[in-house]
Amino acid sequence: MSAHAPPARTKVTIHTLQSKKAQGEVITMLTAYDYATSLAVDQAGIDSILVGDSLGMVVLGYDSTLPVTMDDMLHHCKAVARGAQYPLLIGDMPFMSYQASIEAAVRNAGRFLAEAGMDAVKLEGGRDVIPATRAIIAAGIPVMGHIGLTPQSINHLGGYKVQGRTALAARRLIDDAIALAETGCFALVLEAVPGRVARLISERIDIPTVGIGAGAGCDGQVLVTHDLLGMFDRFTPRFVKRYADLHGVMVAALSVFRTDVSSGVFPAQEHTFTIPDDEWGQLLEDLGPP
Ligand code: KIV
Repeated sequence: MSAHAPPARTKVTIHTLQSKKAQGEVITMLTAYDYATSLAVDQAGIDSILVGDSLGMVVLGYDSTLPVTMDDMLHHCKAVARGAQYPLLIGDMPFMSYQASIEAAVRNAGRFLAEAGMDAVKLEGGRDVIPATRAIIAAGIPVMGHIGLTPQSINHLGGYKVQGRTALAARRLIDDAIALAETGCFALVLEAVPGRVARLISERIDIPTVGIGAGAGCDGQVLVTHDLLGMFDRFTPRFVKRYADLHGVMVAALSVFRTDVSSGVFPAQEHTFTIPDDEWGQLLEDLGPP
């Protein structure tokens, strides 16, 4: 190996994330819902891919994550698993796949690993989801928790609002985080939480926190890849940094295709297959005059 060769990549596990926290190395996580994006996220060296139920909004066009089903999630998780070699793969348990009963929660969580190639699952909620979380972990399935703004509880929360802005609400989040860590979650998403509260939680628990709209004090950062790439020209939350305008790139390229086809510029000779001259001559001779 040359002195400048990058270290060989190895598969990221839940233990990799935990040792990153211990060593003060920041964890990177992005969403992916399909094979091509999964390949790109992996090649970019990202630690973990979350197949989020946000796919309901950014891929399927729903106005919330509530209509997303287990079938939707497994379908997209399978595509992502085919594309990713190294990142830790986390499947998001959709609304009503873990709330109705502990048995259903364990059975559904197991399907993410057994059928869809995921390494772990994520559940939204605080102390209310501890019985399901405990049972899933007892079945040998690693669980990532998710507190703060939990989009599956949007009707209860009354909108997509920052959580933990009063001392009482922040205290509830801290107690939820401690309880989830004690139950055995390997990591915790903190969504739309004041930076100071997220930093405090990250200092008070041993497991890594991965923030989205939770400031720089978390042990890692996650974004929805469609937001980061600017796949939409619609509203993007304030906490998103846009690294590209893929929507603009797509609309521009598709418009050039339309004008190329209309004007006969496409397809050109180099996009067209040929038949050898002798075969062509033979064909015309066989057919005779029109
Ligand atoms: O569904 C999702 O993409 C998520 C992230 C926003 C953390 O839960």
